[in-house]
Amino acid sequence: MNTSTQVNSTSQYFLDLEEEYGAHNYHPLPVVLKKGLGVHLWDVENKQYFDFLSGYSAVNQGHCHPQIISALIEQAQVLTLTSRAFHNNLLGEYEKYITSYFGYDKVLPMNTGVEGGETAIKLARRWGYTVKGIEENKAKILFAEGNFWGRTMAAISSSTDPSSYKNFGPYMPGFEIVPYNDLLSLEKAMQDKNVAAFMFEPIQGEAGVVVPDDGYISGIRVLCDKYNVLMIADEIQTGLARTGKMLACDHENTRPDILILGKALSGGTLPISAVLADNEIMMTIKPGEHGSTYGGNPLACKVAMEALRVLKDENMEANAMAMGILFRAELSKLNSPFISVIRGRGLLNAIVIKHSNKDAAWKLCIELMKNGLLAKPTHGDIIRFAPPLIITEKQILEAVNIIEKSLSTLA
Ligand SMILES: Cc1ncc(COP(=O)(O)O)c(C=O)c1O
Repeated sequence: MNTSTQVNSTSQYFLDLEEEYGAHNYHPLPVVLKKGLGVHLWDVENKQYFDFLSGYSAVNQGHCHPQIISALIEQAQVLTLTSRAFHNNLLGEYEKYITSYFGYDKVLPMNTGVEGGETAIKLARRWGYTVKGIEENKAKILFAEGNFWGRTMAAISSSTDPSSYKNFGPYMPGFEIVPYNDLLSLEKAMQDKNVAAFMFEPIQGEAGVVVPDDGYISGIRVLCDKYNVLMIADEIQTGLARTGKMLACDHENTRPDILILGKALSGGTLPISAVLADNEIMMTIKPGEHGSTYGGNPLACKVAMEALRVLKDENMEANAMAMGILFRAELSKLNSPFISVIRGRGLLNAIVIKHSNKDAAWKLCIELMKNGLLAKPTHGDIIRFAPPLIITEKQILEAVNIIEKSLSTLA
């Protein structure tokens, strides 16, 4: 891939440092950022950009949201970590807040999204043995083709993307893949009595914002009930108002048995994840059987409550819904010969680039960057557009102008 582009000398200094001293496990755009506020980011040369990635949907509330930052600073000056060896005065309050917010009996707090996924799978296996009655070590978890839930050994063991799993084996046993958006295949797989759970994304984010047919999510619920299989919704990217509803499962009025949240649970300030479930599932794990040093720390508890509060206070669901509709409509008005598909829900959107040059999506992102908008290609020809949920109509129109101008350079 040709990544060459003109880079200013200040930026080059930082790029060189990363190149020399950091592992090369990412391929970022050549932009070095130093400041963020709301929907905007600034680079080390003070150039301003629209952020159309939002830290992979971790910054739904906008960069440095004043209430979240105040909560962070206030709590950081008082108490940050006790470990779970002791109680702290915020954990219970947070647990009560988040369980009533989403309507579950209990929460298990973790840090990164992938730990949330690992936790959900452990819970499902434990439930499979102790409640469903699966024979020891026989439990299976089903995943959808194209899934992405992180980079741990378990996560890559369920991946169908060679760039995730190749040359990292041997893999975790007990995982099985079914096609995404295919209820018939899912039903067939669930007939196996050893299946404990189906873990899925309501919209596949990393796969390129793949939106399933209407009825898929509610159909999963029906099948899970029929076969006594747990429905695990990975809402780490789709949740917290990103798709125009608090959860993407809400679009089909469907309640998963296990709900995994992360990313925007901290508004982009700390790694905070959460696994929510009812007692029948959550109480299968006993003291000492799962946990993490930082999970449920008082700083995270305070920040997560504030991050959730501002989502509701500022009605970000409604704004994401309205701005998403406007954004997709404005994009399709461009009638660009280089866009073959526009898809998404709320402010989780993507375009598929159609061009004879296979690097066209990367080139377009470089052009967008030059014109003041940051977005990143995925899988070669797909570009995700996911700005913070506080974006205004005027800003959407400005952003679409930038996209139009940048597309014209592909001609
Ligand atoms: C749907 C989904 N699940 C899980 C994860 C993993 O989250 P983290 O990178 O915080 O471990 C991601 C990350 O992009 C994701 O998109």
